Amino acid sequence: NQYVPVITLDGPSASGKGTIARLVSQALGFHYLDSGALYRLVALAAMKRGVDAGDEQGVVGIARSLDVSFADSSIRLDGIDVSDEIRAEACGEYASKIAQYSALRVELLERQRDLRKLPGLVADGRDMGSVIFPDATLKIYLTANEEERARRRHKQLMEKGINASIAHLVLALRERDERDSKRVASPLQQCEDTRLLDTTGLNIDQVVGKVLGMYADSGSIE
Ligand code: CDP
Ligand code: CDP
Repeated sequence: NQYVPVITLDGPSASGKGTIARLVSQALGFHYLDSGALYRLVALAAMKRGVDAGDEQGVVGIARSLDVSFADSSIRLDGIDVSDEIRAEACGEYASKIAQYSALRVELLERQRDLRKLPGLVADGRDMGSVIFPDATLKIYLTANEEERARRRHKQLMEKGINASIAHLVLALRERDERDSKRVASPLQQCEDTRLLDTTGLNIDQVVGKVLGMYADSGSIE
């Protein structure tokens, strides 16, 4: 059994996890796991099928029957590309409500671990380093201050033609991050074997450079 390197990036909403993880995986030629997309996909499927976020059994049933094709690029539900649809704030909101169910998290556990393949994996989410890949090669807690994260999300939404005030986004992100940090099942937390990377004031290239530098320093054989 050969050791497969894993870099985990956990952190609050709009800290840049997805963007950075994708670019780092490309730079290293590694696979990429967007675990948030998995929760968002279950959320979207449940919403479309009229399942209430409070209905734990209903939500777990949806996840169990979900045929997730998790190709690196497009994310499909019932054969339709929903890569953009799952990014809606409403979907993130619903995802964070159902993410509290430990039965759902157990249901999704192996599907995530299965993606750990040579030459390596970069995984982003909330519990990548703490629960899914506890023996990861490098664990990073990626963050930025609340205002900057809200501004980043605002710009991202505006580019898609979606209007939302920064003040509203600050409140929405805060509520979601609190729920994700305070829940009992796999909460978002900075563990002691995790490196803090505060990206406030750093651009994407700078953050990618820092992560690659940390990985090179981690003693991995590359
Ligand atoms: O995955 P997560 O919600 O943590 O964040 P993301 O969707 O990757 O990033 C949110 C937005 O911030 C994207 O539009 C990124 O391009 C932007 N970003 C940035 O401006 N500066 C960074 N250092 C990282 C991300
Ligand atoms: O892009 P953003 O950081 O806003 O969210 P995301 O990573 O797409 O995740 C959406 C929601 O799924 C989060 O608010 C979490 O509640 C949940 N999630 C989780 O519980 N565990 C993960 N590993 C990833 C996401």
